[in-house]
Amino acid sequence: MHKDIKQVLFDEDEIRNRIKELGEQITKDYAGQGLVVVSLLKGAVYFTAELTKHIDLPVRLDFMISSSYGNSTISTGSINITKDLDENIAGKHVLLVDDIIDTGLTLEKISNLLLTRNPLSVKTAVLLDKGSRRVNAMNADYVGFEIPDEFVVGYGLDFAGDYRNLPVIGILKPSVFAKK
Ligand code: IMP
Ligand code: MG
Repeated sequence: MHKDIKQVLFDEDEIRNRIKELGEQITKDYAGQGLVVVSLLKGAVYFTAELTKHIDLPVRLDFMISSSYGNSTISTGSINITKDLDENIAGKHVLLVDDIIDTGLTLEKISNLLLTRNPLSVKTAVLLDKGSRRVNAMNADYVGFEIPDEFVVGYGLDFAGDYRNLPVIGILKPSVFAKK
């Protein structure tokens, strides 16, 4: 186990198997249609790459970068788009993909923004759901795993930019927080 990880929640096989199931479900739900997958950089890259391999439909892939600004521990709900889509999503089914839904503010703000661009539909997929932290009525349409209120890293998720490349998802040791 990585020296900074207290506990592994999901190993590589568990993650891969669950994402395959989500991809197969999405394939059924959108049968006969295509979709634009909108992936939120950087956290969603690993999840997006694995998920789209299992969506057996015409998929176009696009990326957005958003950052919440203001105090880093208290989300203000303000979302700043620093990289917008290249694709025109008007008349398309959109699947918005993020690593984790926590307060729900990111997915709420971005799906509302995408809805102003006249897509056929906007649905959301997340690898992790920290349901106990939600501050709004937002729920993802496709969820990999529900997790407790712990700070997790790996498989795209970071702490201050580190640990994204860990192949597993694990809980960070408290001593690591103390050092930053
Ligand atoms: P929300 O807007 O509060 O739902 O936050 C979503 C974003 O918060 C995610 O895209 C992550 O960047 C970040 N986040 C929330 N919880 C964690 C965690 O446990 N580890 C790493 N990033 C997290
Ligand atoms: Mg993120």
